[in-house]
Amino acid sequence: MSASGGRASAPEVIVALDYPEPEAAYELVRQLPAGTWYKVGLELFTRAGPGLVRRLVDEGRHVFLDLKLHDIPNTVAGATRSAAAMGVDLLTVHASGGEEMLRAAVDAARVGSESSAGPTRLLAITVLTSLEDASLAAVMGPGSGVEQAVGRLAGLARESGVDGVVSSVAECRAVKLACGPDFLVVTPGIRLAGQGAQDQKRVATPAVAKLAGADFLVVGRTITKSADPAAALERVRSELA
Ligand code: C5P
Repeated sequence: MSASGGRASAPEVIVALDYPEPEAAYELVRQLPAGTWYKVGLELFTRAGPGLVRRLVDEGRHVFLDLKLHDIPNTVAGATRSAAAMGVDLLTVHASGGEEMLRAAVDAARVGSESSAGPTRLLAITVLTSLEDASLAAVMGPGSGVEQAVGRLAGLARESGVDGVVSSVAECRAVKLACGPDFLVVTPGIRLAGQGAQDQKRVATPAVAKLAGADFLVVGRTITKSADPAAALERVRSELA
């Protein structure tokens, strides 16, 4: 299932509101069409809080709340319930919190969504892209390769009832093959052809992400740093049509 409910449709674009201040975030939101999807991450949420999220939702915008929750099941369930009650469309939790925590989050998302306009779908973080084999082994012990860990954690998330994962375009096809076409894949690291990668290591164009089967593309600086953000969003969308 894709963002709009059918595999045949184009992936949805999520604009990353990577700003420290709500005013700057809103300046961008004002320039983009109603109905656009936005990612609110830890930096902006810690500064602006649920008020900003509710305002976006009330205005009919879709919100991906990237809080990367990771705690004991009861605590994650409580935070998930609150996020779902705000009406966010997507919320992240760490798969490494384990099956009990993931199942608690799945139940809480369902309960929290009962008082909002639509369901909150859960995405699992597998291995942070800032980790590589050596740094993961330093945390988890020898023999814990990134690729193996991503596969294991995506499978655990799927079995626990989580709706999908965040992954790079490079892993998208393997996740779809292992977890099934309905398991959502959200891919950051998107660049238009000819654009520099900046600090991203593995980037892909919107068209390549679509071919790999991505359901959602998270796009930050390509749109937020553009002189004409609405035109930049349209250019990304036109590559997906
Ligand atoms: O500016 P850019 O398009 O690179 O921004 C990508 C967005 O996706 C940022 O908000 C970044 O934090 C997020 N992200 C990422 N890589 C991940 C997970 C999230 O770049 N693995």
